[in-house]
Amino acid sequence: MKKLIKNGTIVTAADVYEAEILIEDGVISAIGHDLSSQNAEVIDANGCYIFPGGIDPHTHLDMPFGGTVTKDDFETGTMGAAFGGTTTIIDFCLTTKGEPLKKALSEWHEKAKGKAVIDYGFHLMIGEINEEVLNELPDVVENEGVTSLKVFMAYKNVFQADDATLYRTMLAAKEHGALVMVHAENGDVIDYLTTKALEEGKTDPIYHALTRPPEVEGEATGRAARLAGLTDSQLYVVHVSCADAAERIAEARRKGIDVWGETCPQYLVLDQTYLEKPDFEGAKYVWSPPLRDKWNQEELWTALKNGNLQTIGSDQCSFDFHGQKDLGKGDFTKIPNGGPIIEDRMTILFSEGVKKGRISLNQFVDLTSTRAAKLFGLFPQKGTIAVGSDADIVLYDPNAERTLSAQTHHLAVDYSAFEGMKVTGEAVSVLSRGEFVVKDKQFVGKPGTGRFIKRAKYGQLTSSKDAAKQTSN
Ligand code: URP
Ligand code: ZN
Ligand code: ZN
Repeated sequence: MKKLIKNGTIVTAADVYEAEILIEDGVISAIGHDLSSQNAEVIDANGCYIFPGGIDPHTHLDMPFGGTVTKDDFETGTMGAAFGGTTTIIDFCLTTKGEPLKKALSEWHEKAKGKAVIDYGFHLMIGEINEEVLNELPDVVENEGVTSLKVFMAYKNVFQADDATLYRTMLAAKEHGALVMVHAENGDVIDYLTTKALEEGKTDPIYHALTRPPEVEGEATGRAARLAGLTDSQLYVVHVSCADAAERIAEARRKGIDVWGETCPQYLVLDQTYLEKPDFEGAKYVWSPPLRDKWNQEELWTALKNGNLQTIGSDQCSFDFHGQKDLGKGDFTKIPNGGPIIEDRMTILFSEGVKKGRISLNQFVDLTSTRAAKLFGLFPQKGTIAVGSDADIVLYDPNAERTLSAQTHHLAVDYSAFEGMKVTGEAVSVLSRGEFVVKDKQFVGKPGTGRFIKRAKYGQLTSSKDAAKQTSN
């Protein structure tokens, strides 16, 4: 059935204007005034902003990690995402050395099947480069629609790859049109520092942060950026947590190296002191890279504002406080790393960013949706409000006031990283390809309706019936 959205203000990465939106067959078919509502369900936006659905380029759902498996899977995770205004996620598919890449991808397809309530894609981890991997890669990029490759520079003896692997991944990515992503921390130095801390009896959560100082992130970020320059390839640095790393990205970009940076809400509003909370509560705030000294937050906001960082990922990777985080009682290295952010990603950016005058409305859309769509081969199918684009649409009340809490979030995990935080702004209704997933703040979606999206190669647009929009990048 057709849908016609009236009485809203459309916000894209470029414009803010009042217009109606007609939706047919899951796609935006017209934008204008006094559009015919014949045979259409009329949706009154009631003065809300109309944003393109958010794109979260960094999630870990149903992922084995740290001796356990993330609490939120593709069902609860994507439900939470939808409530926050996100309509597409790109999840990290882990691989195992010696096993075919395609085997890992089919496992990840199984995890999402029948569960996702919004659309999704996958990034693929590269842990080693050998003949088999090199032979599989062209097909993965070309036919599987998985056009971003992730290399971990940390988590020694678990995921960490060496520099030669990173270098060779960059060469292969350049050849086949993929974007290389890095977790940039110096894993060898961290391994030394954590071992030493434990030997000295330093076991509390705060030592997680103290054994991963900003310099180890800055160093790895700079190293990855230089390798991208050396190979003349393209690089995306995930979860930038500190000024040191953000400056390495800015420096590389000034030199013309094709480097992009993502930060996450937690680094913008939480700081290292959270790891000192009593009764082991600091474990709730264990991320890698860790939360930093507070002064880094304004530096990250500035980097978002001036374009030195370009996207906001959630790095959703949730573990219950009771029963999962407590695996690390008495040994901080055993605390599963990560937290629940997917639902609040856009809220934090709107409330702390737009409402506090740190970024503009257009920047909000670019940071939470459009830029990720362009970098990860989803644009213009997703990431904007344009004729021919998927009708992934959020009706957003900019004045709604509420308090974030585990009591009211829609994730399965037993705590909120932002418990008690007062925010302004809320997604009222969310449509995925023209169908309501959230309607008037109630879940009306269905697990399994989210589709896997094959993404275009780096720098290319998604194909579309509508030629005009292909020029709008
Ligand atoms: O602590 C984190 N970031 N957990 C998720 C895995 C990763 O490194 O992104
Ligand atoms: Zn990481
Ligand atoms: Zn992550």
